Amino acid sequence: MSNTVVVGTQWGDEGKGKVVDLLTARADVVVRFQGGNNAGHTLVVEGKQFICHIIPSGILYEDTKCLIGNGLVVDPEVLLEEMASLDTAGISVTPARLSLSEKAHIIMPYHRAVDLARETRKGRGKIGTTGRGIGPCYEDKAARTGVRAVDFTEPDTLEEKIRSNLEEKNFYLTRFFNAEPLDAGPMVARYLEMAERIKPFVTDVSLELALAVKEGRNILFEGAQGTHLDVDHGTYPFVTSSNPVAGAACAGAGIGPGQLHHVLGIVKAYTTRVGAGPFVTELLDKTGDYIQERGMEFGATTGRRRRCGWLDLVVVRDSARLNGLDSLAITKLDVLTGLETLKICVAYDLDGERTLSRPASLKRLDRCTPVYRELPGWSGDISSARKMADLPAEARAYLEAVEEETGVPVSIVSVGPGREETVLVRDPFQP
Ligand code: IMP
Repeated sequence: MSNTVVVGTQWGDEGKGKVVDLLTARADVVVRFQGGNNAGHTLVVEGKQFICHIIPSGILYEDTKCLIGNGLVVDPEVLLEEMASLDTAGISVTPARLSLSEKAHIIMPYHRAVDLARETRKGRGKIGTTGRGIGPCYEDKAARTGVRAVDFTEPDTLEEKIRSNLEEKNFYLTRFFNAEPLDAGPMVARYLEMAERIKPFVTDVSLELALAVKEGRNILFEGAQGTHLDVDHGTYPFVTSSNPVAGAACAGAGIGPGQLHHVLGIVKAYTTRVGAGPFVTELLDKTGDYIQERGMEFGATTGRRRRCGWLDLVVVRDSARLNGLDSLAITKLDVLTGLETLKICVAYDLDGERTLSRPASLKRLDRCTPVYRELPGWSGDISSARKMADLPAEARAYLEAVEEETGVPVSIVSVGPGREETVLVRDPFQP
């Protein structure tokens, strides 16, 4: 038995979905431990594509149990929509296949309203959130006023909480943001109705995991977003409101650190970012456009065009330390095909001095310029490579440079979107 945590090492959108899908074939249980429907992964069922934001992609495998951990914030409207679209595609989402932690927090309409009102008010200084109410829901969790999935099993508690929270939220929305107040009656009715439908899925996920451990099952912990969007370790305040680092798998799923055996960091072969915030290696030129177009870099949740740049190994090196990475999966290497020279950022120059890790101060980070190492590119199609030896020497040298600069070995290389377009150097489930 071996349990693997998959985390993003950059600003999210590293291509975790494909790697998770690949590893799910070897997993018995897939569990998400943080974030909410700000994440998104594209699923293909019988040629039909749709995007799931909450339900782990493991749902496509009949024998895999999917768990939504206590560390998530869950929008019940989105959860029910996803269940319905999976159902239409012939995948029935039953409590035998999916569980929702009773301790997970529930996104309410007032969370979305505050998220949007705040971003509108901030104007130029906005974070560029996904507008899904993620931050305000985590705020209520910390403020100890949140609605939890367990409240779906007690209608009177649910109603009481909604009414009392709305009193405060409406004051805030109308008096501070000049926004419209929200009506308690229809909200209570809608949530009571959704609670009835979701109730059968609500369980103690930590107990389910303990049983899986006891039975020697392989567990896959699926991280969302990326390390540099972490509320503690990311480019604060341009971050999400949860902890996408590997350590959060314990608190967000209800499991001890001794049960995590392999931490796999997903590294896109270049860097992207959606939303606002610092980006030292950003390319605002033709090369950036080339990468954006070839990589089809549009946000899965908001459809926004992603900002693109060279691979920033200062960022990945920080992630190796913060997550205790055991190995790396390099994704979208094929997107770089055709570029004559490739650059990787190995350090930042800050006021004439070299720094190997990202400064916390945004002002100091703003003064950082990238120190690049240049490598020759390759031109031939690499999507048919299935082992390292199939890759051109230049592509292998690129991967070796990443290993050298981060001190972490590469276990997986993705050379195309298809499941089979992969070089598996080492199976993370076989430590
Ligand atoms: P929030 O998570 O909606 O509060 O957004 C905060 C920041 O995190 C914004 O810059 C978002 O674009 C970014 N973000 C949130 N989720 C993701 C994701 O799954 N991929 C990439 N960026 C994300």
